[in-house]
Amino acid sequence: MLVVSISGSPSPRSRSGVVLQHAAQWLNDRGVEVSGVRIQDFNAEDLLYAKFDSPQVMAFIEAVAKADGLLIGTPVYKASFSGALKTLLDLLPERSLYGKVVLPIATGGSIAHMLAVDYALKPVLSALKCQEVLHGVFAIDSQISYGESPLGGDLDELLTQRLHEGLDHFLLGLQHRTQARHKDAGGHLKLAL
Ligand SMILES: Cc1cc2nc3c(=O)[nH]c(=O)nc-3n(C[C@H](O)[C@H](O)[C@H](O)COP(=O)(O)O)c2cc1C
Repeated sequence: MLVVSISGSPSPRSRSGVVLQHAAQWLNDRGVEVSGVRIQDFNAEDLLYAKFDSPQVMAFIEAVAKADGLLIGTPVYKASFSGALKTLLDLLPERSLYGKVVLPIATGGSIAHMLAVDYALKPVLSALKCQEVLHGVFAIDSQISYGESPLGGDLDELLTQRLHEGLDHFLLGLQHRTQARHKDAGGHLKLAL
């Protein structure tokens, strides 16, 4: 099973990035391969000028095409998800998320905009034909502390519990998808015989 983790924060030190890091470790421990992509690693001009033919953008599109599921992390910016993340999602072809499982993860300064994923990010994912967007995991800044390394840090107990619940559902979704794929492949094989 292959997962692409997208960090939508423009900040080099990112709280949503810390949550994503924990999620990736949790999935790795269960045998899921996670490939991480950070918005800040992209060439800003590729994103701002929507360069669909940029090699980096094309590699990203291919990685998404191969993935069974996506973790999408974002800070809340002005009551929505980050604009930088939108510039990247805008470059995905229309049916990119068809058949994939998505677990959104958002962090904000307070609970005031905890529904940002529901009213802002989910419509975008559904425009990309995602049919399985799971209930997102939302955290406020005080639940996440930074560690020594740029991506390291700790989550408080409540957030850890909520994240693990979200990941349990995510893993189940990934397993269903893999089983369905194998079933399809079996059916095609029988027909071919
Ligand atoms: C430009 C900007 C806008 C923000 N707007 C909001 C907001 O509308 N609501 C909110 O709860 N937090 C807001 N925040 C706080 C961030 O969402 C919060 O600190 C988040 O955890 C940052 O995530 P990151 O460290 O992964 O970038 C804003 C922060 C910045 C820098």
